[in-house]
Amino acid sequence: MPAILWDGAMLRHLFLGLSRSDRAWALARRSAALRPVLRRFVAGETMDEGLTAAAGLRAGGIDATLDLLGEATESEDGARRAARGYVEVLNGIFHRGLRSHVSLKLSQIGLDLSEDLAAELLGLICRTAAAVGTFVRVDMEDSGRLPPALRVFERVLRFGVRNVGIVLQAYLLRTPEDLQRYIRQGVSIRLCKGAYAESPTVAYARKADVDAAYGRLAEQLLLYGHAPAIATHDERLIRRSREFAASRGLAKDRFEFQFLYGIRRDLQERLVADGYRVRVYVPFGTHWYPYFMRRLAERPANVVFIARHLIGA
Ligand code: FDA
Repeated sequence: MPAILWDGAMLRHLFLGLSRSDRAWALARRSAALRPVLRRFVAGETMDEGLTAAAGLRAGGIDATLDLLGEATESEDGARRAARGYVEVLNGIFHRGLRSHVSLKLSQIGLDLSEDLAAELLGLICRTAAAVGTFVRVDMEDSGRLPPALRVFERVLRFGVRNVGIVLQAYLLRTPEDLQRYIRQGVSIRLCKGAYAESPTVAYARKADVDAAYGRLAEQLLLYGHAPAIATHDERLIRRSREFAASRGLAKDRFEFQFLYGIRRDLQERLVADGYRVRVYVPFGTHWYPYFMRRLAERPANVVFIARHLIGA
Protein backbone atom coordinates (compact mmCIF):
# COMPACT_ATOMS: atom_id res chain seq x y z
CA MET A 1 0.00 0.00 0.00
CA PRO A 2 1.50 3.37 -0.90
CA ALA A 3 2.51 5.43 2.11
CA ILE A 4 0.71 8.75 2.60
CA LEU A 5 3.32 11.47 2.38
CA TRP A 6 2.42 14.53 4.44
CA ASP A 7 4.18 17.43 2.86
CA GLY A 8 4.26 20.98 4.22
CA ALA A 9 1.45 22.19 1.96
CA MET A 10 -0.92 19.42 3.10
CA LEU A 11 -0.22 20.11 6.76
CA ARG A 12 -0.71 23.83 6.17
CA HIS A 13 -4.08 23.13 4.60
CA LEU A 14 -5.08 20.76 7.39
CA PHE A 15 -4.28 23.27 10.14
CA LEU A 16 -5.87 26.21 8.35
CA GLY A 17 -9.00 24.06 7.94
CA LEU A 18 -8.93 23.12 11.64
CA SER A 19 -8.55 26.81 12.56
CA ARG A 20 -12.19 27.25 11.48
CA SER A 21 -13.57 24.22 13.37
CA ASP A 22 -15.50 24.95 16.57
CA ARG A 23 -15.30 21.28 17.57
CA ALA A 24 -11.52 21.19 17.30
CA TRP A 25 -11.42 24.44 19.30
CA ALA A 26 -13.50 22.93 22.10
CA LEU A 27 -11.09 19.97 22.22
CA ALA A 28 -8.01 22.20 22.18
CA ARG A 29 -9.39 24.32 25.02
CA ARG A 30 -9.65 21.25 27.25
CA SER A 31 -6.19 19.91 26.42
CA ALA A 32 -3.81 20.59 29.31
CA ALA A 33 -0.95 19.12 27.26
CA LEU A 34 -1.32 21.88 24.68
CA ARG A 35 -0.86 24.69 27.22
CA PRO A 36 2.96 24.76 27.32
CA VAL A 37 3.10 24.88 23.52
CA LEU A 38 0.42 27.54 23.39
CA ARG A 39 2.43 29.68 25.79
CA ARG A 40 5.24 29.77 23.31
CA PHE A 41 3.06 31.77 20.89
CA VAL A 42 0.50 33.51 23.14
CA ALA A 43 1.51 35.71 26.09
CA GLY A 44 -1.43 34.61 28.27
CA GLU A 45 -5.17 34.86 28.61
CA THR A 46 -5.35 38.15 30.56
CA MET A 47 -4.56 41.77 29.72
CA ASP A 48 -2.11 41.85 32.59
CA GLU A 49 -0.14 38.99 31.04
CA GLY A 50 -0.11 40.78 27.68
CA LEU A 51 1.14 44.04 29.21
CA THR A 52 3.73 42.20 31.30
CA ALA A 53 5.08 40.50 28.17
CA ALA A 54 5.28 43.91 26.46
CA ALA A 55 7.14 45.37 29.46
CA GLY A 56 9.59 42.44 29.40
CA LEU A 57 10.34 43.02 25.73
CA ARG A 58 10.82 46.75 26.32
CA ALA A 59 13.44 45.95 28.95
CA GLY A 60 15.37 44.25 26.15
CA GLY A 61 15.00 47.22 23.78
CA ILE A 62 12.07 45.74 21.82
CA ASP A 63 8.68 47.42 21.37
CA ALA A 64 5.38 45.59 21.18
CA THR A 65 2.08 45.72 19.39
CA LEU A 66 -0.62 44.16 21.54
CA ASP A 67 -3.33 41.97 20.04
CA LEU A 68 -6.38 41.27 22.18
CA LEU A 69 -7.17 38.00 20.42
CA GLY A 70 -10.51 37.74 18.64
CA GLU A 71 -11.97 37.54 15.17
CA ALA A 72 -15.17 36.75 13.26
CA THR A 73 -17.37 38.31 15.95
CA GLU A 74 -21.01 37.37 15.33
CA SER A 75 -22.95 39.96 17.35
CA GLU A 76 -22.93 43.72 17.80
CA ASP A 77 -22.57 43.20 21.55
CA GLY A 78 -19.48 41.09 20.98
CA ALA A 79 -17.99 43.73 18.66
CA ARG A 80 -18.62 46.53 21.18
CA ARG A 81 -17.15 44.38 23.98
CA ALA A 82 -14.01 43.83 21.88
CA ALA A 83 -13.70 47.59 21.27
CA ARG A 84 -14.05 48.26 25.01
CA GLY A 85 -11.34 45.64 25.56
CA TYR A 86 -9.03 47.62 23.27
CA VAL A 87 -9.80 50.85 25.12
CA GLU A 88 -8.74 49.09 28.35
CA VAL A 89 -5.56 47.82 26.73
CA LEU A 90 -4.73 51.37 25.58
CA ASN A 91 -5.27 52.66 29.10
CA GLY A 92 -3.04 49.86 30.39
CA ILE A 93 -0.30 50.84 27.92
CA PHE A 94 -0.53 54.42 29.14
CA HIS A 95 -0.52 53.57 32.86
CA ARG A 96 2.45 51.22 32.52
CA GLY A 97 4.38 53.82 30.49
CA LEU A 98 4.88 51.43 27.57
CA ARG A 99 5.53 52.45 23.98
CA SER A 100 3.32 49.68 22.65
CA HIS A 101 0.93 49.91 19.72
CA VAL A 102 -2.19 47.77 19.30
CA SER A 103 -3.09 45.47 16.40
CA LEU A 104 -6.64 44.42 15.66
CA LYS A 105 -8.74 42.52 13.18
CA LEU A 106 -11.74 44.33 11.76
CA SER A 107 -13.84 41.15 11.90
CA GLN A 108 -13.37 41.29 15.67
CA ILE A 109 -15.10 44.67 15.82
CA GLY A 110 -18.01 43.83 13.57
CA LEU A 111 -16.79 43.85 9.95
CA ASP A 112 -18.85 40.74 9.14
CA LEU A 113 -22.00 42.43 10.54
CA SER A 114 -21.79 45.99 9.24
CA GLU A 115 -19.11 48.23 7.80
CA ASP A 116 -20.71 51.19 9.64
CA LEU A 117 -20.24 49.41 12.97
CA ALA A 118 -16.61 48.43 12.23
CA ALA A 119 -15.80 52.00 11.10
CA GLU A 120 -17.43 53.50 14.20
CA LEU A 121 -15.50 51.18 16.55
CA LEU A 122 -12.20 51.54 14.68
CA GLY A 123 -12.61 55.33 14.89
CA LEU A 124 -13.25 55.08 18.64
CA ILE A 125 -10.17 52.89 19.21
CA CYS A 126 -7.99 55.21 17.11
CA ARG A 127 -9.18 58.31 19.00
CA THR A 128 -8.40 56.60 22.32
CA ALA A 129 -5.00 55.56 20.99
CA ALA A 130 -4.32 59.16 19.89
CA ALA A 131 -5.25 60.40 23.37
CA VAL A 132 -2.59 58.15 24.93
CA GLY A 133 -0.08 58.90 22.15
CA THR A 134 -0.03 55.59 20.37
CA PHE A 135 -0.90 53.81 17.13
CA VAL A 136 -3.38 51.25 15.79
CA ARG A 137 -2.49 48.65 13.17
CA VAL A 138 -5.29 47.01 11.21
CA ASP A 139 -4.31 43.37 10.63
CA MET A 140 -5.32 41.78 7.35
CA GLU A 141 -7.48 38.67 7.27
CA ASP A 142 -8.54 36.40 4.38
CA SER A 143 -8.96 37.89 0.89
CA GLY A 144 -12.79 37.71 1.09
CA ARG A 145 -12.67 40.31 3.86
CA LEU A 146 -10.07 42.49 2.17
CA PRO A 147 -12.35 44.78 0.10
CA PRO A 148 -14.67 45.63 3.05
CA ALA A 149 -11.64 45.95 5.36
CA LEU A 150 -10.01 48.48 3.03
CA ARG A 151 -13.29 50.40 2.66
CA VAL A 152 -13.57 50.69 6.47
CA PHE A 153 -9.90 51.60 6.81
CA GLU A 154 -10.19 54.32 4.15
CA ARG A 155 -13.34 55.69 5.76
CA VAL A 156 -11.49 56.14 9.01
CA LEU A 157 -8.65 57.86 7.14
CA ARG A 158 -11.22 60.22 5.64
CA PHE A 159 -12.42 61.07 9.20
CA GLY A 160 -8.92 62.56 9.53
CA VAL A 161 -7.45 59.79 11.67
CA ARG A 162 -3.66 59.61 11.22
CA ASN A 163 -2.47 57.18 13.91
CA VAL A 164 -3.64 54.12 12.00
CA GLY A 165 -1.86 51.83 9.55
CA ILE A 166 -2.64 48.77 7.48
CA VAL A 167 -1.18 45.32 6.80
CA LEU A 168 -0.61 44.13 3.23
CA GLN A 169 0.08 40.52 2.30
CA ALA A 170 2.79 39.76 -0.27
CA TYR A 171 1.07 36.55 -1.44
CA LEU A 172 -1.90 38.46 -2.91
CA LEU A 173 -1.63 39.28 -6.60
CA ARG A 174 -3.29 42.68 -6.06
CA THR A 175 -0.87 43.86 -3.37
CA PRO A 176 1.55 45.82 -5.63
CA GLU A 177 -1.33 48.17 -6.53
CA ASP A 178 -2.52 48.52 -2.91
CA LEU A 179 1.05 49.18 -1.82
CA GLN A 180 1.54 51.94 -4.40
CA ARG A 181 -1.79 53.57 -3.49
CA TYR A 182 -1.14 53.61 0.25
CA ILE A 183 2.45 54.76 -0.18
CA ARG A 184 1.13 57.72 -2.21
CA GLN A 185 -1.32 58.49 0.63
CA GLY A 186 1.45 58.39 3.25
CA VAL A 187 -0.14 55.43 5.08
CA SER A 188 2.08 53.26 7.28
CA ILE A 189 2.21 49.70 5.92
CA ARG A 190 3.22 46.48 7.62
CA LEU A 191 4.26 43.97 4.96
CA CYS A 192 3.79 40.26 5.76
CA LYS A 193 3.69 37.16 3.55
CA GLY A 194 0.06 36.21 4.33
CA ALA A 195 -1.29 33.51 6.63
CA TYR A 196 -4.61 32.30 5.15
CA ALA A 197 -5.63 29.57 2.68
CA GLU A 198 -6.19 31.42 -0.60
CA SER A 199 -7.15 30.38 -4.11
CA PRO A 200 -4.48 30.55 -6.84
CA THR A 201 -6.76 33.01 -8.63
CA VAL A 202 -5.97 35.65 -6.00
CA ALA A 203 -2.66 34.60 -4.43
CA TYR A 204 0.66 33.01 -5.33
CA ALA A 205 0.51 29.31 -4.50
CA ARG A 206 4.26 28.59 -4.52
CA LYS A 207 6.34 29.68 -1.55
CA ALA A 208 9.19 30.72 -3.88
CA ASP A 209 6.83 33.14 -5.65
CA VAL A 210 5.57 34.57 -2.34
CA ASP A 211 9.15 35.09 -1.16
CA ALA A 212 10.14 36.78 -4.45
CA ALA A 213 7.09 39.08 -4.26
CA TYR A 214 7.95 39.91 -0.65
CA GLY A 215 11.49 40.90 -1.64
CA ARG A 216 10.27 43.23 -4.39
CA LEU A 217 7.53 44.83 -2.28
CA ALA A 218 9.83 45.29 0.72
CA GLU A 219 12.26 47.29 -1.43
CA GLN A 220 9.47 49.59 -2.64
CA LEU A 221 8.26 50.00 0.92
CA LEU A 222 11.69 50.74 2.33
CA LEU A 223 12.42 53.31 -0.35
CA TYR A 224 9.13 55.17 -0.46
CA GLY A 225 7.02 54.04 2.54
CA HIS A 226 6.00 56.02 5.58
CA ALA A 227 7.12 54.26 8.83
CA PRO A 228 7.41 50.89 7.04
CA ALA A 229 7.28 47.62 8.97
CA ILE A 230 9.07 44.58 7.54
CA ALA A 231 7.18 41.73 9.22
CA THR A 232 8.81 38.39 8.53
CA HIS A 233 10.96 35.82 10.33
CA ASP A 234 12.61 34.91 7.05
CA GLU A 235 16.30 35.48 7.70
CA ARG A 236 17.13 35.72 4.00
CA LEU A 237 14.53 38.44 3.40
CA ILE A 238 15.60 40.30 6.53
CA ARG A 239 19.21 40.25 5.35
CA ARG A 240 18.14 41.41 1.89
CA SER A 241 16.15 44.31 3.42
CA ARG A 242 19.10 45.32 5.58
CA GLU A 243 21.47 45.26 2.63
CA PHE A 244 19.04 47.14 0.42
CA ALA A 245 18.45 49.85 3.05
CA ALA A 246 22.19 50.23 3.61
CA SER A 247 22.90 50.41 -0.14
CA ARG A 248 20.36 53.25 -0.49
CA GLY A 249 21.65 55.07 2.57
CA LEU A 250 18.37 54.67 4.51
CA ALA A 251 18.76 55.40 8.22
CA LYS A 252 18.14 52.43 10.52
CA ASP A 253 15.37 54.30 12.35
CA ARG A 254 13.37 54.96 9.18
CA PHE A 255 11.77 51.50 9.35
CA GLU A 256 11.26 48.63 11.77
CA PHE A 257 11.42 44.86 11.70
CA GLN A 258 8.46 43.06 13.21
CA PHE A 259 8.17 39.53 14.59
CA LEU A 260 5.46 37.39 16.13
CA TYR A 261 5.74 36.64 19.84
CA GLY A 262 7.83 33.56 20.53
CA ILE A 263 9.38 33.25 17.07
CA ARG A 264 13.09 33.79 16.29
CA ARG A 265 13.95 35.62 19.51
CA ASP A 266 17.63 35.15 18.62
CA LEU A 267 17.15 37.16 15.45
CA GLN A 268 15.14 39.85 17.27
CA GLU A 269 17.98 40.34 19.75
CA ARG A 270 20.62 40.38 17.03
CA LEU A 271 18.77 43.12 15.14
CA VAL A 272 18.48 45.23 18.29
CA ALA A 273 22.20 44.75 18.97
CA ASP A 274 22.90 45.90 15.40
CA GLY A 275 20.95 49.12 16.01
CA TYR A 276 17.65 48.31 14.24
CA ARG A 277 14.17 49.00 15.56
CA VAL A 278 12.25 45.82 16.41
CA ARG A 279 8.61 45.40 17.37
CA VAL A 280 7.01 42.14 18.49
CA TYR A 281 3.34 41.28 17.96
CA VAL A 282 2.11 40.15 21.38
CA PRO A 283 -1.21 38.25 21.30
CA PHE A 284 -3.14 37.56 24.47
CA GLY A 285 -6.69 36.62 25.45
CA THR A 286 -9.00 33.66 25.65
CA HIS A 287 -9.83 33.58 21.93
CA TRP A 288 -6.43 32.10 21.02
CA TYR A 289 -7.40 29.08 18.95
CA PRO A 290 -7.50 30.40 15.31
CA TYR A 291 -4.31 32.43 15.86
CA PHE A 292 -2.56 29.39 17.34
CA MET A 293 -3.64 27.13 14.46
CA ARG A 294 -2.28 29.60 11.90
CA ARG A 295 1.08 29.48 13.68
CA LEU A 296 1.03 25.68 13.51
CA ALA A 297 0.11 25.82 9.82
CA GLU A 298 3.13 27.99 9.07
CA ARG A 299 5.66 25.46 10.21
CA PRO A 300 5.27 21.67 10.13
CA ALA A 301 8.06 21.39 12.73
CA ASN A 302 5.65 22.94 15.25
CA VAL A 303 3.46 19.87 14.92
CA VAL A 304 6.37 17.65 15.90
CA PHE A 305 6.99 19.99 18.84
CA ILE A 306 3.37 19.50 19.95
CA ALA A 307 3.47 15.75 19.41
CA ARG A 308 6.54 15.56 21.68
CA HIS A 309 4.68 17.47 24.39
CA LEU A 310 1.60 15.30 24.06
CA ILE A 311 3.57 12.06 24.46
CA GLY A 312 5.89 13.58 27.05
CA ALA A 313 9.07 12.87 25.01
P1 FDA B 1 8.36 31.78 6.49
O1 FDA B 1 7.04 31.12 6.70
O2 FDA B 1 9.10 31.49 5.24
O3 FDA B 1 9.26 31.47 7.75
C1 FDA B 1 10.62 31.83 7.81
C2 FDA B 1 11.22 31.22 9.08
O4 FDA B 1 10.60 31.82 10.23
C3 FDA B 1 10.96 29.74 9.25
O5 FDA B 1 11.93 28.98 8.59
C4 FDA B 1 11.00 29.59 10.76
O6 FDA B 1 12.34 29.60 11.21
C5 FDA B 1 10.37 30.86 11.24
N1 FDA B 1 8.91 30.71 11.42
C6 FDA B 1 7.94 31.24 10.65
N2 FDA B 1 6.72 30.95 11.15
C7 FDA B 1 6.93 30.23 12.26
C8 FDA B 1 6.06 29.63 13.22
N3 FDA B 1 4.74 29.74 13.13
N4 FDA B 1 6.62 28.95 14.25
C9 FDA B 1 7.96 28.85 14.35
N5 FDA B 1 8.83 29.39 13.48
C10 FDA B 1 8.33 30.07 12.44
N6 FDA B 1 -0.45 37.48 8.32
C11 FDA B 1 -1.62 37.92 7.81
O7 FDA B 1 -2.19 37.28 6.92
N7 FDA B 1 -2.19 39.07 8.30
C12 FDA B 1 -1.59 39.83 9.24
O8 FDA B 1 -2.14 40.87 9.64
C13 FDA B 1 -0.34 39.38 9.75
N8 FDA B 1 0.32 40.10 10.73
C14 FDA B 1 1.60 39.73 11.06
C15 FDA B 1 2.34 40.53 11.93
C16 FDA B 1 3.67 40.24 12.18
C17 FDA B 1 4.46 41.13 13.10
C18 FDA B 1 4.28 39.09 11.57
C19 FDA B 1 5.72 38.77 11.80
C20 FDA B 1 3.53 38.27 10.77
C21 FDA B 1 2.19 38.56 10.51
N9 FDA B 1 1.42 37.73 9.72
C22 FDA B 1 0.20 38.19 9.27
C23 FDA B 1 1.86 36.34 9.43
C24 FDA B 1 2.59 36.22 8.11
O9 FDA B 1 1.71 36.46 7.04
C25 FDA B 1 3.23 34.84 7.92
O10 FDA B 1 2.23 33.86 7.91
C26 FDA B 1 4.23 34.49 9.02
O11 FDA B 1 5.00 35.58 9.36
C27 FDA B 1 5.17 33.37 8.54
O12 FDA B 1 5.88 33.80 7.43
P2 FDA B 1 7.42 34.31 7.49
O13 FDA B 1 7.45 35.65 6.86
O14 FDA B 1 7.92 34.27 8.85
O15 FDA B 1 8.20 33.36 6.51
